[in-house]
Amino acid sequence: MVEVRISELRRIGAGREAEVYCLDERRVLRLARTAALRAEVERERVALLAARRCGAPAPAVFERMDVDGRPGLVLERLDAHDLLAGMLRRPWEIARVPGALAGLHTSLHETVAPAELPDLRTEVAERLQSGLVPRDVRDAALRALQQLPDGDRLCHGDFHPGNVLRRRRGGYVVIDWKAATRGDPAGDVARTRLLLLGAWIPGAGPRQLQLLLTPFRWALYAAYLRAYQRQRELERSAIIAWVPVLAAARLSYDIPQERTPMLALARRGLHDRRA
Ligand SMILES: Nc1ncnc2c1ncn2[C@@H]1O[C@H](COP(=O)(O)OP(=O)(O)OP(=O)(O)O)[C@@H](O)[C@H]1O
Ligand SMILES: [Mg+2]
Repeated sequence: MVEVRISELRRIGAGREAEVYCLDERRVLRLARTAALRAEVERERVALLAARRCGAPAPAVFERMDVDGRPGLVLERLDAHDLLAGMLRRPWEIARVPGALAGLHTSLHETVAPAELPDLRTEVAERLQSGLVPRDVRDAALRALQQLPDGDRLCHGDFHPGNVLRRRRGGYVVIDWKAATRGDPAGDVARTRLLLLGAWIPGAGPRQLQLLLTPFRWALYAAYLRAYQRQRELERSAIIAWVPVLAAARLSYDIPQERTPMLALARRGLHDRRA
């Protein structure tokens, strides 16, 4: 195998869990930040292959590659920018974002997921076992989860504008498939709702500044949902039923800026349900 040195590679992207380096014209190396993420990297490889096999717009996946003990995947290099960066840098492009998100998301949800993808409800139940989820919240969320529907559709699990890339030559690609599951589309839309409205945006400034974005985030979610519902039937109540359960499971990601609002959302929803 060719020896690769990280110091000789150009970094072209970074997220919470991975850094992306340019290998050549055609390929990038998506390298996990720590050796402990080996299982996640393997999970992403399986999910990427599954998503590609059923025709979803995902980057091609080549071989596995470790550098300095960090696990990585060699992926198709996309000549593209993500829609989150696009909205922040080119606000005039915002108008086409909801339609693009909805078109992609409905097409995933029309797809029956390959059997090798984990089950959405099982995945959420596992996340709820995290020590970061307070016991009362975990117990209530597990009870609520039992009432939520099963499903067999392709769910991305982390579908937000930062994970949708627009190719320079046109067309969209969805990245970051490590949380992909087989399940109820309403759950996947509920996760997008949670992320669009409440996720901490790294690099978008301090909390007070991010709070100013709240009305824009609601407007984006409302426009996305309208566009989604024009293409696929989906009751608002079916989405809302998932929200507190997913908010509770989100605590397991250990994002300090999100802890208080996610906990409040989980407690409010799970408490209302009991009442
Ligand atoms: N195949 C690719 N080709 C070109 N750029 C890419 C590719 N995959 C990812 N990137 C760039 O790297 C950035 C981070 O990638 P990615 O979202 O996969 O990392 P992550 O750590 O999983 O992110 P997150 O914080 O969402 O968990 C992306 O926003 C994108 O700009
Ligand atoms: Mg990402």
